[in-house]
Amino acid sequence: MSRAPRKVTIVGAGYVGMTCAHRAAQLELAEELVLLDVQAGRAKGIALDLAQAGAIEGFGARLVGGGDPDLAADSDLVIVTAGRPRKPGMSRSDLLEVNGRIVIQVAEWLRRNSPEAIVIVVTNPLDSMLGLMRRKLAFPAKRVIGMAGALDAARFSCFVAEATGTSVQDVDAMVLGAHGDSMVPLPAATTVAGVPVRQLLGAGPLEALVDRTRHGGAEIVKLLETGSAFFAPAAGAVQMAASILLDQRRLIPCTVELNGEYGIEGLPIGVPCVLGRNGVERIVELPLDTEARIGLNKTAGEVQRDIEALRERGLW
Ligand code: 2OP
Repeated sequence: MSRAPRKVTIVGAGYVGMTCAHRAAQLELAEELVLLDVQAGRAKGIALDLAQAGAIEGFGARLVGGGDPDLAADSDLVIVTAGRPRKPGMSRSDLLEVNGRIVIQVAEWLRRNSPEAIVIVVTNPLDSMLGLMRRKLAFPAKRVIGMAGALDAARFSCFVAEATGTSVQDVDAMVLGAHGDSMVPLPAATTVAGVPVRQLLGAGPLEALVDRTRHGGAEIVKLLETGSAFFAPAAGAVQMAASILLDQRRLIPCTVELNGEYGIEGLPIGVPCVLGRNGVERIVELPLDTEARIGLNKTAGEVQRDIEALRERGLW
């Protein structure tokens, strides 16, 4: 049976956007891949360069780049990376206003030209930008999904692997909450080949890894001096896209507007989600100990504050 060619659009051709495009092309996730950027020439150039890389790397999607939002028309899935990155010393919330305006504009385009799309948001500050995108798109919550937990869990996995002297491929980590210093890495739901991490590391060393994970983005911002991380954020977004487009139903922590799950109503927060063809197929409610429960309430408070700040600026 024939089906319409699958179309994926990536909004923003910065480091995260172009790395997403490369990875999505390598994984052959779509027949048509569009890269959109206000700098049309940059988007066109990267699309052309990628198409040429395909001749060597062996992928053959139709790659289109440009600045016209209508290039995104009828996308099945859109990854939104557009926005300013952090500079050293900045928190993600410092980007609220400038990136909020970008998100509002992108939502206006997508609402008009891709009403059936599933939208993955990467733009920071992630949780409030996800909430803003969902509000402006007015799509069902299961189709507007934020990428943060995949990245934060990857960072936690990486640190656990290093500290235990094991392969990162064997580590399964879970991180809930907002994409900021108040995130809630969950040692109780983190294992190395099925072995609970608490059996391999003492409380002190484990707490140090939790803390490093909370500041994992800032650690890279400081090292890079200009810009922020891009390989792992792009890998996280494309992992989510693959689970949706291929209906893999992977269980990945994602940011999604909650409707009473975890006792939270109407706020976007990172929680474990099963991702499949309809977007978020299911939210998994983990039993939380007191510390994690307090952490989740604190992180929800921070997201609420960012949303209030957007409201005060007339952007909500
Ligand atoms: C990070 O954590 C940029 O928020 C992104 O690296």
